[in-house]
Amino acid sequence: MATVSDSIDAAFYKPADEFFTQHSGTGFTFDDVSLATLYSEILPRATNLETSLSDSLRLQIPIISADMDTVTESRMAIAMALSGGLGLIHYNMPERQQLSEVSRVKNHVHGLIQEPIKVLPDQLIGEVIELIEEKRFSFSTFPVVDEQNHLIGLLPGHVLKQRYAAKKVAEAMTERSAIHTIQEKELLPDPIARADRFFNDHIGIHKLLVVDKQDRLCGLFTLSDVERITQESRAQLKPARDSHFRLVCGAAVSATRGANGDLDKERIQAHVGALVERGVDVVAVSTAHGHTKGVGETVRFIREIFPELTIIAGNVTSGAGVTFLAECGANAVKVGQGPGSICTTRIVAGVGIPQMTALYVASQSTAKKGVRIIADGGITKSGDLVKALTLSDAVICGGLLAGCPEAPGQIMEINGKLYKQYRGMGSLAAMKAGSAARYGHSVKDTTRKAAAEGVEAVKEVSASIDIVLTQLVGGVQSGMGYLGAANLKELREKARYIRVSPAGQREAAPHDVIEIKTGGGNNPG
Ligand code: XMP
Repeated sequence: MATVSDSIDAAFYKPADEFFTQHSGTGFTFDDVSLATLYSEILPRATNLETSLSDSLRLQIPIISADMDTVTESRMAIAMALSGGLGLIHYNMPERQQLSEVSRVKNHVHGLIQEPIKVLPDQLIGEVIELIEEKRFSFSTFPVVDEQNHLIGLLPGHVLKQRYAAKKVAEAMTERSAIHTIQEKELLPDPIARADRFFNDHIGIHKLLVVDKQDRLCGLFTLSDVERITQESRAQLKPARDSHFRLVCGAAVSATRGANGDLDKERIQAHVGALVERGVDVVAVSTAHGHTKGVGETVRFIREIFPELTIIAGNVTSGAGVTFLAECGANAVKVGQGPGSICTTRIVAGVGIPQMTALYVASQSTAKKGVRIIADGGITKSGDLVKALTLSDAVICGGLLAGCPEAPGQIMEINGKLYKQYRGMGSLAAMKAGSAARYGHSVKDTTRKAAAEGVEAVKEVSASIDIVLTQLVGGVQSGMGYLGAANLKELREKARYIRVSPAGQREAAPHDVIEIKTGGGNNPG
């Protein structure tokens, strides 16, 4: 039976349809709204954050790293997938390089050192000691291989003494017949679990070498790495994997045009085909304006040739844009025009919609088409993520992740603080490096004609991806606990919104105190 207190709640805290329709004509972004708490029996740690970008691509957490040249290459994509999310490898690089970045992610075996430092049998012990000092290696056991990389021995740390400096590695190494090895294919389906079992069964052995059929060295497991990973995996986020137990990986592709201005279908087919061969799980047709003939034709063309491939397309901010891309064959549509931390689209072109309103409008089309919505840009704290997920299936983050060590780029010091570069793909520098097509320009235009729609900036260096994601996920789980939502579907159904006044926005952040330590609800960077 509804009570007076229920009806007063209902009068103030509105479901999405009522709230956004009542405010039609006004654009809201994250800080303009807040979510009401609801009766809950859900503990944050019991919530499930699984999501999907298509019927075949599932993620453990709904967070994707942006296809930007200062955010996602293989190192970031590996770290994202290990924590249950997805990395979209950018396309501001030669196609061949993008393919090998994808291969690195798909071939990554967690815990396996794939290119261990090796020594040759004719080297002197003294040379190996010098190498350790020069490179400051923290380990002292080295596989010994011949010129063709066949495993012939293992040089143990206890023989690396100056008294043996003039002796050859071959004289001091443990012979091949006495070394523990495992065949690459025996590691499947779960290499870390297999290595863990091996170390359980072999008391006192700390190294396991991996070889191929020809006895060539393919990698090395160490007991300490395996122990750390198995302990962490009990507590932390589960990796996102494909059906062959490989990490998931995405790559951006552009709506490439030939000299006559028409879509270069041959090149698009060759590019996407090569990505699929390398095992890519999803391609993203990434442009600033996705509701266009060119993007539609590109998506339609890729869908025709690769019927099973998951396709993300965008960006749009309208229901018509979502419907259009879904009809062309996209499984998921990126929503966001101008909310990004490095975007100047709204200033330069005068277009774009504040993100919460854009997400609401876009999500109305999904119900009809079954296409997933991805909230792209403007997320600066975990609370934004919770709000975005009330209207979408996943979010894309750029700036929040650009300070992590896994993002490409050098660390620089400015006034005693450490920073990493973060630039918009529509900034002049990024367009010159290749992303001009994303903004409807040709690379040749970038000297004069192209109006930049992004800035070049820096982000303070932050913690590593697993720590940043653990904090973001913790925030989302808290939000779900407050709403009594056990999973993302329930979060979408249960969300009730209220508009926040400017004074309410000030109240939402720490105020009237002198902060001595930042954290607790802010950008983990
Ligand atoms: P955040 O806020 O996470 O945003 O840093 C990342 C998203 O911003 C978009 N993006 C741009 N938008 N000009 C724009 O208008 C640009 O130069 C630009 N570069 C990236 C993109 O959608 C990304 O995921």
